Amino acid sequence: MINIAQIKGKEFLEVQKLAGKIDGIVQHPQHIYKIMADHFGDTFFIARDESECDKILGFLLGFISRKIKGQLFIWQIGVSEAAQGKGIGSKLLEHTIDYGKKAMDCNAIMATVETTNKPSQHLFENFNFEIASSVFLDSYQTLIDADGKEAVENYYNSGTDQIFYHLELE
Ligand SMILES: CC(C)(COP(=O)(O)OP(=O)(O)OC[C@H]1O[C@@H](n2cnc3c(N)ncnc32)[C@H](O)[C@@H]1OP(=O)(O)O)[C@@H](O)C(=O)NCCC(=O)NCCS
Repeated sequence: MINIAQIKGKEFLEVQKLAGKIDGIVQHPQHIYKIMADHFGDTFFIARDESECDKILGFLLGFISRKIKGQLFIWQIGVSEAAQGKGIGSKLLEHTIDYGKKAMDCNAIMATVETTNKPSQHLFENFNFEIASSVFLDSYQTLIDADGKEAVENYYNSGTDQIFYHLELE
């Protein structure tokens, strides 16, 4: 059975290691995960597998934006490659949505997904996230069409184009 919980203690070390093994995720240095756990740990969730001695199989790293009021921004979501496609990413996202609905300072969730990352796009679309790239791009940035989806060209200046996903919470 998969359990989702807020990150605690030294779990940031395991998360950082896991991030390094998942293709498609940027592995940040340990201190980034530590700072996020210490200061934004309310929206930093981990998925553990009870049947595998509580091994961490996935994580979702988010924070509630102070600049764009009320938005919970999902920075990273990752599931161990061997465990992908088994519903763990969906559980992490569902848990985050439930958290956002209860949080007083949150009324929406947003995430950016690379135009080439189809699994991640499916994940957000399954939860009725809407594409909102035109709402969140900066004035110096350009909107492009990516297989019929509106995206922002080179959003992070890292050479990748990003689709903005957005979910209004009731
Ligand atoms: C994106 C990711 C978090 C999804 O987690 P997951 O546990 O594999 O997802 P789930 O099993 O809950 O499946 C959710 C949806 O993702 C899609 N999906 C998952 N694995 C997929 C695959 N290998 N190929 C295509 N689609 C896939 C499916 O559409 C699925 O929905 P469906 O079952 O209704 O078709 C995971 O694939 C991952 O870690 N990818 C690499 C890291 C990454 O790209 N993170 C996002 C950017 S930060």
